[in-house]
Amino acid sequence: MRKTIIAGNWKMNKTFLEADIFLFELSENLEKIELGTVEVVICPPSLYLELASDIATDSKFHIGAQNVNDNADGAFTGEISAAMLHSMDLKYCIIGHSERRKYYSESDEMINAKLKKLHENEIIPILCIGETLEQREQGITKDIILAQLDGGLNGVEIEDNVVIAYEPIWAIGTGKTATPQQAQEIHSLIRNWLEENYSKDISEETSILYGGSMKPENVKELLSQSDIDGGLIGGASLDVSKFSKMIETAVEL
Ligand code: 13P
Repeated sequence: MRKTIIAGNWKMNKTFLEADIFLFELSENLEKIELGTVEVVICPPSLYLELASDIATDSKFHIGAQNVNDNADGAFTGEISAAMLHSMDLKYCIIGHSERRKYYSESDEMINAKLKKLHENEIIPILCIGETLEQREQGITKDIILAQLDGGLNGVEIEDNVVIAYEPIWAIGTGKTATPQQAQEIHSLIRNWLEENYSKDISEETSILYGGSMKPENVKELLSQSDIDGGLIGGASLDVSKFSKMIETAVEL
């Protein structure tokens, strides 16, 4: 059975002290929650990965990085390799986020190279895909999603080691959430693509997360959809009580 994953993507937010306080409070809150098949993941800025890993050791959440370089090692000032993330025992790493595609010109080809580096180092990629508002209005959402899947997963073997996050760009940080039906339609497209390109087992075992203005008020409706297996949460993951509430909702479903 596939996991429900509630993942927080902090993006470029929080000072060290704020991160420390959040993670301790989250640990305390999780002690009171029986997680069952729900997995909790925090993706802090890379500077805090060590702090987060240390706190996570005695707690019930996992850690993911927000980015990785597509090269193995070498002269890439400021970058972080998959081997470095592996040496910190990280479980996940976000790749293909629309902010990185937009501000750092990351192509599907580069994202595919990053994904392969993560797999070589036994880290599970959280592969983000999603369309712009313009593309949705042009009626080409499905083509965009399928092209991002083809590009990002080109030549990749999947066996319980990929998480996909559908994040419609027009819903990120805008307060505008996809309706549960809009999200479900694309999640089911992704699952069918997995079945066609891999197998029924792979499609049924792969967690497909939704991201884009997910918050305590809409998490229940979204997670109730048959192909939505969790959330990749930005803004609402910065507030420990909102984030904990969303975990509680996921556990109750
Ligand atoms: P928001 O939840 O702030 O819309 O961000 C979603 C996101 O980009 C998570 O990766």
